[in-house]
Amino acid sequence: MISDTPRPLNIAPDASVVVVTGAGVSAESGIATFRDKGGVWEQYDLERVATPEGFAADPDLVWRFYSERREQVLRCDPNPAHRALAALERFLQARGRFLLVTQNVDGLHQRAGSREVLPIHGSLLRTRCSNDGCPTRPVDDERSYKNGAPRCPECGSWLRPDVVWFGEYLDPEMERQARLAIADCDWFLAVGTSGVVHPVAGYVEIAADMGVPRVLVNLEPPANVRAFTSFYQGKAGEVLPVLLSFAL
Ligand code: APR
Repeated sequence: MISDTPRPLNIAPDASVVVVTGAGVSAESGIATFRDKGGVWEQYDLERVATPEGFAADPDLVWRFYSERREQVLRCDPNPAHRALAALERFLQARGRFLLVTQNVDGLHQRAGSREVLPIHGSLLRTRCSNDGCPTRPVDDERSYKNGAPRCPECGSWLRPDVVWFGEYLDPEMERQARLAIADCDWFLAVGTSGVVHPVAGYVEIAADMGVPRVLVNLEPPANVRAFTSFYQGKAGEVLPVLLSFAL
């Protein structure tokens, strides 16, 4: 699919817009993506650090991995792509509707000022008990646990990062909200995601069924590029400020 030339999108102030983001939106903040060359899954074995089985086998290793991610995120700041999406939300605030569904666990959208955010893969800066029967709730947590996995003070089980691992279900309420919003949107935008991890990779199909414009901003054509009506190949931090200049 040939890349379009970025120019401002014709989004009305009373439009309903859903944006889906992935690791590419945070790349220019200095956070490594997963599947690009040199990405996280080239350096680490996904099965060992991002599955419930991997955690059960070696919680210390998993916490070393997530502690490094925490430290990295705390050193990074939102970039122009995050800020452009926060501006779009403000542009729509009075008369339109906006929902940002992010697969990123880094919290950078929220730090850039986005409010209506569904962090559908969880949050890196939150810790919860791995025992689903434990009454404790997830807590905000910026600590590193490089010297060993922490235990739950309530039940003694391992504590774990509050992220969704491979083989786990997404929060059903977030999934419901995302699907409902997409089925009722006027514009669907996807930014910086390889389009291979489901269910989020399939959300564009809901928008396609509704026949609404589906805009993609990505450095490389991703797996699901053909489901979009426009494709802007480039860096999110350079392309989004042009597409959304009317809101900045
Ligand atoms: N601007 C726009 N796109 C970019 C940029 C950039 N500056 N840099 C990289 N990209 C693109 C890449 O071309 C790639 O298609 O972003 C995409 C990132 O893809 P992945 O690394 O696969 O990240 P993502 O799609 O978010 O992965 C989904 O998989 O590993 C799990 O749970 C993890 O949430 C993650 C999920």
